[in-house]
Amino acid sequence: MTAVDDARALLATLTDAPAVGVWSAPGRANLIGEHTDYNEGFVLPFAIAQRTAAAVALRDDDVIRVRSTFADDAVEVSLAELDARIAAGGLDWAGYPLGVAWALRAEVPDAVTRGVDIALASAVPVGAGLSSSAAIEGAVASALNDVWGTGLDKVALARVGRTAENDAVGAPTGIMDQMASMLGVTDAATFLDCRTLQTRPVPLGFAETGLEILVVDTLVEHAHASGGYRERRASCEKGAAAFDVRALRDLTVDDLPRAREILDDVTFRRVRHIVTENQRVLDTVAALDLAGPSAIGDLLTASHASMRDDFEISVPELDLAVETTLAAGALGARMTGGGFGGAAIALIPAELVPAATDAVYAAFAASGFRTPNVFTVTPSEGARRDA
Ligand code: GLA
Repeated sequence: MTAVDDARALLATLTDAPAVGVWSAPGRANLIGEHTDYNEGFVLPFAIAQRTAAAVALRDDDVIRVRSTFADDAVEVSLAELDARIAAGGLDWAGYPLGVAWALRAEVPDAVTRGVDIALASAVPVGAGLSSSAAIEGAVASALNDVWGTGLDKVALARVGRTAENDAVGAPTGIMDQMASMLGVTDAATFLDCRTLQTRPVPLGFAETGLEILVVDTLVEHAHASGGYRERRASCEKGAAAFDVRALRDLTVDDLPRAREILDDVTFRRVRHIVTENQRVLDTVAALDLAGPSAIGDLLTASHASMRDDFEISVPELDLAVETTLAAGALGARMTGGGFGGAAIALIPAELVPAATDAVYAAFAASGFRTPNVFTVTPSEGARRDA
């Protein structure tokens, strides 16, 4: 059963009303460009094949009821109370779909919104750094945009998703995940300028070159609403303020000697990660365009070293995943997503995937770490209406 079938089946347990449609949106892996999005820089994520689906039925009243395969109970809120319920917080997973409904109404205040039942089913692993949250947001935003006739384009729907995440859920994230999920293209990554929100699909050609992206989900949990993610963001803002620029996007590697002079050591290293990571994204896009994916391995691995040593968002499990896949023949490897847990990715020849997978299991067992989930992901299509 696909997520679309599961969502439809779940909806049928909620209501006798027929589904007016099913929409879905994928998770994402980020090829390179980490923590650059909220610094108005560059990122290069791709949508993965695993998707979250939202099946929707209309109601006669003004209640939004959401139910998902990953929680036991339905949550219902009347549209009249929605603002107050979002402001009160504490909605847990329902904060994502209800936050999208709230943000969409705020974005299009004159839209004629009506009550709906929404059933969600997801094949995106939760907490793996593959953005299960953006998949929920993308599916629900696409669904309500059609059902409520709000007429937003994909970029505007990505913004709605980010607003839900920032202001309803309270996670101070950038817009990479929502853009990747909305705009994904089969066999391509989405090169995104997070200042202008301009995008370009960059063909990856993994299949032609016999390469795969292997994911090692460490099962180490992270939450971006608290702690390290927020602190990193604050350090970046401090660095930008010291240079009197709007965002670290406005600095280049030529500014780093001066940064070392005027910043404390920790802030300097946070800034150096962002500045060099932006350059690595540009270099990766150029290498893909000119020479294809076999030319980007060292950039991926350099990105990991920068996150481990300068940005300090890796954990021992992620470092071990990177080291082990490199030793097993990966061309490059790095943690992906916000860090402090989640997943690493490795760019690896397809024929080495089984041996690398075994090597990862063995290395995690030898270190006494929890057995990770190891699987490949495929660059796939973004949000869409399925039925
Ligand atoms: C999380 C956030 C994104 C981005 C990444 C780090 O996935 O949701 O906005 O900041 O972390 O690159």
